[in-house]
Amino acid sequence: MSIHVYETPEELAETAAREFADKAGKAIEERGRFTVVLAGGSTPEATYGILASDYADRIDWSRVYVFFGDERPVPPDHDDSNHRMASEMLLDHVPVANVHRMRGELAPEAAAEAYEEELRTFFRTEEVPRFDLILLGIGADGHTASLFPETAALEVSDRWVVANPVLKLDTARITLTVPVINAALAVYFLVAGEDKAATLREILESDADPRAYPARLIQPQSGPEWMLDQAAASALS
Ligand code: 6PG
Repeated sequence: MSIHVYETPEELAETAAREFADKAGKAIEERGRFTVVLAGGSTPEATYGILASDYADRIDWSRVYVFFGDERPVPPDHDDSNHRMASEMLLDHVPVANVHRMRGELAPEAAAEAYEEELRTFFRTEEVPRFDLILLGIGADGHTASLFPETAALEVSDRWVVANPVLKLDTARITLTVPVINAALAVYFLVAGEDKAATLREILESDADPRAYPARLIQPQSGPEWMLDQAAASALS
């Protein structure tokens, strides 16, 4: 695990975009394609925007295959849709090879099954797929992707994608499961803002129960990389 702290959210976004481009270049050179999972929420918007503008000609987008870590149960053009945010900020502006979105307009269980099937077809394997890069955020409650505290999805080890009922939000989300995230070659957490500071301390510097702070379950072999702004890092020792 490594932790990097940047002065401002802008500097965090600049660095995340540069790292993304670097990973893409290496994956394309070594394996001919780059498979990346995008995060939702508001934090990565700035990174996506920089990729769309400053990296439009610096990444071979035709070899980039885009996936999502989670989705809300809404159609793709809905304000709450992670796909919509990623499209507006990035995917509408660069010629990626393919966008594999979670179908939030379906019943969550059906959407999860469909996405798992899509992953099986894409990766042509029964083994847990290994994405080149997974981007994640955290919520102030310690969730990541749509792995919320004390929810059923945290325990799932035999599925790649599940519908996860989240009682406190009175909804169900579609989310990748822990084994899929942990199988990735690289996992970056992008975290900005003071409202994440106390939670981040629990995640990174306590032995809190991972069921209460699901981001603690994310332990890929390469160790997650944490990219924080000063405000998010302000409660760390
Ligand atoms: C989502 C996410 C989620 C997000 C965090 C942080 O769809 O909500 O993918 O895990 O990364 O909630 O969200 P913010 O960046 O908006 O704080």
